[in-house]
Amino acid sequence: MADGFSRQGAAEKVMPPIFAGPVGEIYQEAQAALKDVYHRCRMGSHLEVKDIQEIVADYLNRMQDNQNMLLQMVMLKDLDPYSVRHSLNVTVLATLLGSKLGLSRKELQLLGVGAMLHDVGKLEVPAEILLKPGKLTAEEFAVIKRHPQAGYERLDGVVMEEVRRVARDHHERCNGSGYPRGLRREEISLAARCVAIADVYDAVTTDRCYRPRYLPHEGMELLMMESTLGNLDLDLVRVFLQAIASYPVGTRVKLSTGETALVIAQEPEVPMRPVVKVLKPRRSAGKIIRLLTNPSVLIVEVDA
Ligand SMILES: [Fe+2]
Repeated sequence: MADGFSRQGAAEKVMPPIFAGPVGEIYQEAQAALKDVYHRCRMGSHLEVKDIQEIVADYLNRMQDNQNMLLQMVMLKDLDPYSVRHSLNVTVLATLLGSKLGLSRKELQLLGVGAMLHDVGKLEVPAEILLKPGKLTAEEFAVIKRHPQAGYERLDGVVMEEVRRVARDHHERCNGSGYPRGLRREEISLAARCVAIADVYDAVTTDRCYRPRYLPHEGMELLMMESTLGNLDLDLVRVFLQAIASYPVGTRVKLSTGETALVIAQEPEVPMRPVVKVLKPRRSAGKIIRLLTNPSVLIVEVDA
């Protein structure tokens, strides 16, 4: 569903200030490493993903403390709509789901690397098809649909078989309607099912050349619909939706400004960016901040 590689050149842009700090570092390192992998792929040279593995390990170490911040970054798409971020977003979302499922560190590592590299086969798809603004012809769609198998082959001898299968099976669907092999739920690994959910969610909530993005709550509804149709794993979608759910009114949060605040209202269309009222420090107590229109202020802690 997602083409993670549109608008590649734009990824050269400098990160906006919101990416400063430890979380920003994770993003920047991951972005640089992914760009390197793509570059080597395009040059036809041997694929080396050691950097990716190290970055995922490092990311998992830091993820626990920074989960809310990372999640908000995924939601703040308009600040950095570029392609490499799709793979990073899928990694954040899939590993968040994995951690809520109680996966072991080893399993999360495998899931994270699989998520980072899930669309690596897209590099075999000609840019004119990948970037085509209009509707694809049947032939063009057939070419796109080769990317899971192409990724699987590309990763031969590079990563573990389980990781390769994430690349091969992330477009498989639980009811057998997916591709390339029409596998059913029990034949699709848990990691591939997690990446499928993260992939669909990030793809539909990102602007594409042929349609505007869905808002987060619309993306959540679409996931529910896809799981009731039997495409996505319903149990996993439920856990995923809980994990990315909004902050309920009354939640105390700590902001990246150092202030403690209370969630006083939801933005129904953007659940991760509620309206808050500052409680502390005293001098700014009572100040109302609409996070939706203040993208540089992040929620860094819940129940502060
Ligand atoms: Fe894909």
